[in-house]
Amino acid sequence: MVLCRALVCARTSRRARPPAVVTRGLVLCGLFTCLPFAAADLVGVDDPERAQTNYMLNCQGCHRHDGAESPDGAVPGMRDFIGHFLSVPGGREFLVQVPGSANAAISNAELAELLNWLLQRISREQLPDAFSPYTETEVAHLRRTPEDDVVGTRATLVRAIESLDPTSPKLKMMEIPE
Ligand code: HEC
Repeated sequence: MVLCRALVCARTSRRARPPAVVTRGLVLCGLFTCLPFAAADLVGVDDPERAQTNYMLNCQGCHRHDGAESPDGAVPGMRDFIGHFLSVPGGREFLVQVPGSANAAISNAELAELLNWLLQRISREQLPDAFSPYTETEVAHLRRTPEDDVVGTRATLVRAIESLDPTSPKLKMMEIPE
């Protein structure tokens, strides 16, 4: 399936002046579908297409198609960054309890799958070596205690990330949001 889509991408991208709808499709395709690893490499993701659809329907409106920072800076960039949260105490919980995740109208199993998919798609380099995927049970437990100081907790976590060993190869791609 992935290979098949990659071929479609390659063929479609040779078309001159594609209509806007094709261009949009290619952007998504290029970011999420044609990456050089197979779906089987995504641990904790039963159905990558369902995860991608859930992202598009529930997250993309704020986090953009690729997890980039919003132009006004109100929504932080997740790309090449959110994997770091799993290396600091409380960060793993935060990714589930942040309102955009916790309040999404999807099941605990789907949220676990979506976060596993997102982390490995847009922040694989920053994940700890011993990445352990979220499970339905863990997400169900964390969702019962929503984060009530998002700004304060996030600031504490980002400071902890900044103080991680800067010589670590895991941090070489890090961009700390202002
Ligand atoms: C209405 C806009 C909005 C939607 C929809 C949204 N988010 Fe967010 N998200 C934010 C904002 C703003 C932040 C920064 C923390 C905060 O203020 O909540 C954030 C932070 C996060 C973070 C922590 C990253 C960081 O650096 O703080 C994660 C992970 C996240 N969102 C995941 C998701 C997922 C997964 C979805 C979809 C299921 C989603 N969000 C939907 C606005 C949104």
